[in-house]
Amino acid sequence: MPKAIRFHETGGPEVLKLENVEVGAPGPGEARVRHSRIAVNFIDIYFRTGRYPARLPSGLGSDAVGVVEAVGPGVADIRVGDRVGYLLGPQGAYSEVRVMPADVLIPLPAGISDSTASTLIMKGMTVQYLFRQVYPLKGGETILYHAAAGGVGLIACQWARAIGVTMIGTVSSDEKAALARASGCAHTIVYTRENVAERVRELTGGKGVPVVYDSVGKDTLQASLDSLALRGALVSNGTSSGPVVIDTMQLAARGSLWVTRPAMVHYATPRSHMLAMADELFALVLAGKIVSEPRQTFALADAGEAHRALESRATAGATVLVP
Ligand SMILES: NC(=O)c1ccc[n+]([C@@H]2O[C@H](COP(=O)([O-])OP(=O)(O)OC[C@H]3O[C@@H](n4cnc5c(N)ncnc54)[C@H](OP(=O)(O)O)[C@@H]3O)[C@@H](O)[C@H]2O)c1
Repeated sequence: MPKAIRFHETGGPEVLKLENVEVGAPGPGEARVRHSRIAVNFIDIYFRTGRYPARLPSGLGSDAVGVVEAVGPGVADIRVGDRVGYLLGPQGAYSEVRVMPADVLIPLPAGISDSTASTLIMKGMTVQYLFRQVYPLKGGETILYHAAAGGVGLIACQWARAIGVTMIGTVSSDEKAALARASGCAHTIVYTRENVAERVRELTGGKGVPVVYDSVGKDTLQASLDSLALRGALVSNGTSSGPVVIDTMQLAARGSLWVTRPAMVHYATPRSHMLAMADELFALVLAGKIVSEPRQTFALADAGEAHRALESRATAGATVLVP
């Protein structure tokens, strides 16, 4: 019987259990996908801990790659044998095999391995929508990006370099700083010993940056607001350290700042647009401008260990499960 990680209550990594599951034939508009690699994303921790609602008992994960082994009636553009990845749809990617809505499946190009793709689908598409849609970068800007050596972060470093953007990245250690710089981050700030906003002012001749991409949330909010130029934008795209509460008067006092809290689902639809986003990402990878491989690999059964590593800041780059 196929196996999947499930949880019956929210809580620490120990609530994640490997269980036998029934996986039937795909129905109308569906496809059955056998996973080769499953990506671990910080959002999975929000579901496991109950910060995002899950109907229990629940599967977990929204990002995997694999091969289509059956399609249901009415599926036109996905065929048996296609290599695919996905980042939308119901929770349950932490599994050997599953049935998915076919319209969320993204065909993978022949030149991109499953291993590389598993680090790209959610994380690279996130950089696409942050840099190209939420606050579109033209090239030439200097930006502040938190968690620059994280899973999304190492792709952001490379994407920024590819489009001529000077990225200032925050990291917790010298090792992560070296990794971010090697990936294209122009300047790093080790926030455990440096004042982020002061360093940003130094690096920008006192002006501040036009945009901060902040996935850390609670712990970085003040530094983010203090680093912005007049009428700058805070893109609050994650809450790894806890939720963000903003007093809008602070936005006025600091120079008529903007704030947005974007979610992928609102930027990666309709399907034609999601596929165009993926094409842009894959083109950068095929051109050698983004190089990405998992930096931490765990067995599917050890998903809890992968979560422990990610939430304790022990990881850099992408973390992947192998079924
Ligand atoms: N809005 C969206 O659509 C969207 C999509 C994808 C991801 N995201 C968000 O983007 C962020 C990055 O996701 P990811 O999967 O690539 O994870 P990640 O960046 O690899 O996340 C872990 C890193 O965040 C940093 N961090 C800072 N404070 C932390 C804390 N209190 N607890 C844990 N980590 C902390 C750590 O780097 P240092 O050691 O350098 O501090 C850590 O290594 C997450 O917040 C995620 O929710 C949002």
